[in-house]
Order: sequence, then structure tokens, then C-alpha cells
Amino acid sequence: MKEHLVIFDTTLRDGEQSPGASMTREEKLRVARQLERMQVDVIEAGFAAASPGDFEAIRSIARVIRGSTVCSLARSNENDIRRAGEAIAPAARGRIHTFIATSPIHMEKKLRMTPDQVVDAAVRAVLWAREYTDEVEFSAEDAVRSDVDFLCRVFGAVIDAGATTINVPDTVGYSVPHVWGGLIHTLIERVPGADRVVWSTHCHNDLGMAVANSLSAVLAGARQVECTINGLGERAGNASLEEVVMAVRTRSDLFPVDTRIDTTQIVPASKLVSQITGYPVQPNKAVVGANAFAHESGIHQDGVLKHRETYEIMRAEDVGWAQNKLVLGKHSGRNAFKSRLSALGIVFDSEEALNVAFARFKELADKKHEIFDEDLQALVSDEVQTPDGEYYKLAYSRVCSETGELPAADVTLIVEGCERKASGIGSGPVDATFKAIESVAGSGAKLMLYSVNAITTGTDAQGEVTVRLARGGRIVNGNGADTDIVIASAKAYLNALNKLQFPDRLDPQGDV
Ligand code: KIV
Ligand code: ZN
Repeated sequence: MKEHLVIFDTTLRDGEQSPGASMTREEKLRVARQLERMQVDVIEAGFAAASPGDFEAIRSIARVIRGSTVCSLARSNENDIRRAGEAIAPAARGRIHTFIATSPIHMEKKLRMTPDQVVDAAVRAVLWAREYTDEVEFSAEDAVRSDVDFLCRVFGAVIDAGATTINVPDTVGYSVPHVWGGLIHTLIERVPGADRVVWSTHCHNDLGMAVANSLSAVLAGARQVECTINGLGERAGNASLEEVVMAVRTRSDLFPVDTRIDTTQIVPASKLVSQITGYPVQPNKAVVGANAFAHESGIHQDGVLKHRETYEIMRAEDVGWAQNKLVLGKHSGRNAFKSRLSALGIVFDSEEALNVAFARFKELADKKHEIFDEDLQALVSDEVQTPDGEYYKLAYSRVCSETGELPAADVTLIVEGCERKASGIGSGPVDATFKAIESVAGSGAKLMLYSVNAITTGTDAQGEVTVRLARGGRIVNGNGADTDIVIASAKAYLNALNKLQFPDRLDPQGDV
């Protein structure tokens, strides 16, 4: 009989801390709905005290999600915990995840607190959190570099105060599997009250061992893994959900646990998160990479054709890889459009928003005869990207590109309701378009990344462009999709500029 392994997804919190990956409330809601469809146990929806936007996003998620616990992060102070408690209040099941650093370097240099003060703050935080919910998780930030005796003391004290899950983070991705498993084993043996809580692990991937360390923790007794879709997260990212889940499922001969994840929802979740954040998935990424089930060598192809299991340990369809499904075309009506979107978890706030999206769908269907689910996702992403309002909007774009000449672009932008025209010359059509836009915007932002991805196959496919801009220490990603990649690029650039117009969130890893 397998024990249950709790899958705690932190794509919307730790994942969102990746440079430029911040998501709007609507985008977070779409990801949360997909996570619920995939049956993750806990959705860490954000850090309520970080900004009013984060607070609202968690609250909206708490209102609509019924099949997963909705959680907010909170530092160990009263204000953070109150904000987290208020944000999760509408949830069917709500959790507060409070944390404080426990390593000597963090306590001395960052918090400037003594170990006794840290224990007090941790206990008070858990007591406050219990006033809002029965599900309280406590994390010892930088546990990996903390003294084991001190960890036992802090964990014992917060269990006494009412914590129900104890999370052990490798905040800096420093551990290796046998050491990490050893630490979890020691803690479960030594901490008073260890048998009354769920032990959890949260591993970062700086040395490429986040998944291996998480699995080692599971073998040592952890019954919750914190992870993200596509391994998104701070620096090198977090343990990737799809790898943890598929390892446990595929090697059920080794692991005494199973999850309740509907694995056929993994690839759709991966595509959605990649599309929204602008973080592409590398082709050779385990489980969700485009080549994860592609057999190139003749020997492998021959083997798979004769007997699939010669070279495949998982079935592509079990993780949600399916042929692109033709769903709609130019003769499809508004109802078909609406019901396909709702099957994808996309619901519009108003009839007007639906009508605008439907008009965009008709425009796309005129250019591209076969409309796939991925096209619909991109179309909707385009539609709901800047709910704060579009400061810059593309009204018109024209580019002239011929052999032996420098490409020239003309654009017309709507800037706060006023029309502005500009031209630019560049080394390519995209460069010329960006120069034209920049001559109006004068943002001074630095282009950090430009990438184009074909959303589906075929030369009439939509190109999905990601533009990453940096200005004054702030990084934002902009996305745009269109069958014309110069237009997709202009949209992505403007989307990034629009994000730079609006205030950012606080950094959640600050003081207590
Ligand atoms: O990496 C980390 O330590 C964290 C904690 C807040 C759990 O993300
Ligand atoms: Zn983390």
C-alpha cells in the first residue's frame, strides 16, 4: 500500500521569482486552474504582502479553486501573516506558509538576529498563522547551511506552536542526494513531535540536483515535495514537478509513495507556463521537452517500432503529448469558440472581453486555416496580458526588406490614446521595428533576450515572440503572437514596455 506524496506547486510564487517571469492576476488564474485540473494538492499562489497585485491574485485564486489547497507565503511578521490570512480566506482549503532563515550567515548578515530571537519569531509567526487557518507550514530558510541541533530546536518549537507541515529548503541548491536524504532522516528521528507533521522538501537546482535531492528526501521520509512546472524558479530554478511525479510513478518499484496527479495534464501545464512566462522549454528537457519522446537514431526507431518498451520507459500520451488537435476553423461560431476555451480553463470576465477575443479569433482564422489549442492559448495570452491598461498599443506596422538594402520599418503607435508615427532602419526587419518603437517610447531599456518559437507546425504557424527588457535593475518579459513574426515581435516589445510602466512587486526574500 503506497503512502500519499503531497505535491506542492510553487510555480506561482518561487517560479514567478525568475527574472521577468512575473504574471498578471489573469495569467495566474489560468495557471492555477490548470494546476487544479492536474490535481496538485497545494498551490502556492503567491506572497500576499509583496504587493496589492499579489494579494488580489491569491484572493482570486482562493475564490475559484476548489480541488486544491491554496497557500500564501508570509515572512515571520504579523503584517505578512495577516495579509496571507486575508488573501486565503475565501479558499475551500487555505494554508499559510511562513518562513524565517536559520543558517548562521542569514541570521547574522541578513536578519541581524540572534538564534533565540529567530526561534521566538518563528513560534509567534506560527501562532498568528493558526488564528487564520489550521494548515500552517513552517520553513527554515537556508536549512541546508543551518546547524542541525538548531534546526531541531526551531522545528520542535514550531510543531509545539501548531505547525502542521515542516519544510526543509535547500535554498541555495548546495546539497547532494545522500547528504540531503541523511538530513531529512536525522530531523525526522530527532525532532520532538516529528510524527505529528508532514515533512516537506524544497530544493533549488544550482548544482542540477534539485530533483535527485527531493527524491532522496522522499526515500528518507518526506511526504511533501515542493516543485514547479518546467523547474521554473529563482536562479537555476526549483525541482521540476513533472520529473518528480514521473520518477515516482515510473519507478514505483523503488518509491513507497504515489501522487494523485493526473499526468496527462503535465504537457498542457508545461506549455501554458512557458507561454505565459516567456521561458522556453529546452528540447531535451525530461518529460516535457519537444524531443523527450523523439527517436532519431535508426537503431532506436527500429527498436521502438518493433516493441515500444525497447527504448521508452514512459508513454508520451501518459504525460499529455498528443497530436496537435484541430479544434476550430474560420467557420466555427462564437459558442464553439467559447466552449473550447472553457475546456482549456479559460473563462472571460465579461461578454465584451469574449467578443473582442472572438473577433481576434476570426482575424486569425482568415490567415491560418487550422486553429489548434496552442493557437487559442496564445491568442488569449495576447488578449489579457496588460489588464493594468495598455500604455502603448500597436496600430500599424510596415517593414520593407530587400536584398542588399538595410530593412526599414514604419510604425504607428497609440500612446495613451494619441497616435504617434515613427520610422527606423536596422540590421534586420525586427531590429528596424524595435528602433522605430524606441524612437517613440525612448525607454532606454536594454534588450536582454529575444526569442521566436513556432507555436504549431507549418509555415502558416503563429510565431510566439518573447522579449526581455531590463531597466534600472528591473527585468520584464513581454510576449506577442502572430502569423507575421515582425508583428509578433512588435507586440512582444510593446508588451514588455507596458509592463515597465507599471509598478513592480516587493522582493519576498527581504527582512523578517
Ligand atoms: O528557497 C527557499 O528557501 C524558499 C523558502 C521561502 C521556502 O523559497
Ligand atoms: Zn525557494
